[in-house]
Amino acid sequence: MSYASTSSPESTPASHEPFFSPALTAEEGVAAATELFRETFGCDPDGVWHAPGRVNVIGEHTDYNGGLALPIALPHRAHMALRRREDRTIRLVSPQTRETIDVLDLDQIGPKGTPGEVRHWNAYVAGVAWALEQDGLGPVAGFDAALYSCVPLGGGLSSSAALEAATVVALDEVNDLGLAGTVEEPDDAGRARLVHSCVRAENEMAGAPTGGMDQSASLRCQEGHALELDCRTGEVAQVPLDLASAGLALLVIDTKAKHSLVDGQYGARRAACEKAASLLGVDLLVEVSPTDLPQALARLEASGEDGPELVKRVRHVVTEIQRTRDLVALLSDGRELSGDKLAQAGALLDASHESLRYDYECTCPELDVAVDAARAAGAHGARMTGGGFGGSAIALVDADAVEQVARAVVAAYEREGFGAPAFLDALPSAPAGRLV
Ligand code: GLA
Repeated sequence: MSYASTSSPESTPASHEPFFSPALTAEEGVAAATELFRETFGCDPDGVWHAPGRVNVIGEHTDYNGGLALPIALPHRAHMALRRREDRTIRLVSPQTRETIDVLDLDQIGPKGTPGEVRHWNAYVAGVAWALEQDGLGPVAGFDAALYSCVPLGGGLSSSAALEAATVVALDEVNDLGLAGTVEEPDDAGRARLVHSCVRAENEMAGAPTGGMDQSASLRCQEGHALELDCRTGEVAQVPLDLASAGLALLVIDTKAKHSLVDGQYGARRAACEKAASLLGVDLLVEVSPTDLPQALARLEASGEDGPELVKRVRHVVTEIQRTRDLVALLSDGRELSGDKLAQAGALLDASHESLRYDYECTCPELDVAVDAARAAGAHGARMTGGGFGGSAIALVDADAVEQVARAVVAAYEREGFGAPAFLDALPSAPAGRLV
C-alpha cells in the first residue's frame, strides 16, 4: 500500500523529542485531496468525503467471536475527492502514485486469487464498489478518485478501514443509494449495511480475514463517544467518553513495528477460535460464558495436541468480552472518571494487555515495552490496541502528563535499540461523511 501518511517513518524527524503525528484539519484535507484530483484528472470532483481511523479502547480479538468491542474514531482521517463517471471505469490516484494513475474496470475486477484480483490499496477502494454490487446495494457507476490520508499506515489504526469507509460514503451519495445519512444525522441502520460491504471488500478483495470492528468504528462512532459494538447482533450503543473534562487523555503510541493483517498470524488466531468453538459445540465463542469457562477449558485441554494453545486463546476471548462489559458499565455509571473508578478502568486496560500478551500471544517487544514504560511513567492503564503483532498501544493518562509519558516511552525505546515511535492524541471524533 502506498498512499500518503504524514507519519510515515520517512517523514518522522530523527530526534529524541516525542513526535506527534498531526491530524489534518478538514480544510487541509479538502485542499490536499482536491488539488491532487484537479492536477490528475483536470476537472473538479463532485465532493470530498472523509473517514477516520480508530483505536479500540478494549475488546480485542472479540469481533470475529461475536463479542463486544469499544472503539473510538480518531481525528486522523482518509480524505477522498471523487467524481462519478458515466461508464464502468475506476481511476485512482494517491500522492505516491501520482505519476501512474491506476485504471480498473468494474466489470473485470474480482476477489483476491481470481484473474480480476486488484492489488495494493486499490483493493480497498475498488473492492468497496465491487462489494456494494455483490451485496445488491448497487449498481454503482465508475468513478475517479484522489486519496489523501493522514492515518498512519500499518500502525494498527485502521488506515485501510478509513479508506473503505471514505469510499463507501462517497459512493453511497454519488449513486443515490441513500444509506449513510449525514454526519449530523447518520442513518445507523443504513451504515450497518455499508459496513458489511466494506468488510467484504477487506476479506474478499484484499484477502485480510478481519472481523468488522474497524469498519463499524469508522462508519458508526460518534464524536465524544466510544462505540459499544455487539459484534454478534450488530447492535451499537454510544458510550459518552469526555476524557478532557475529566482531565484525562488517551495517548496512542504507534510502535512503528511492522503490522500486517494479511500475513498468517491474524488468520491463525481466528482459525484457532473457530476450531475451539466447533470443539465446544457453539457457533461463536461469545456463547461461552465466564461461568462455563472452567469446564470449557477442561474440555479443550483434553481435546488433542493443540489443546493447551486453544485453552489460552479461548481464555483470552471469554475474559476480554467480560472486561469490555465491565468497562462499558463503569463508563456508563454517570460518575466522573477519577479516583477508584479511574483505577478500575486502568486495571481493566492493564488486564486486557496481559491477556493479549500471555494468552493470545499477539503482542511484540515494542508493544510490551511501550505499555510497561507508559505505566511506569504514571499512565492509569495501558494496552496494545488493534490486531497486534506490531501496530499501536494506548495509554490512559492525565492530560498534563502526556508529554512526560511520551518521553518515557521514547527513552525506553532508545534503551532497547528500537526505532523511534510516534504518538497521537486520540480524541473521540466524528464518523465518515461528506466534507464539501
Ligand atoms: C484488527 C481487525 C479487527 C479486529 C482487531 C482485533 O484490527 O481488523 O477486525 O479483529 O484486529 O480486535
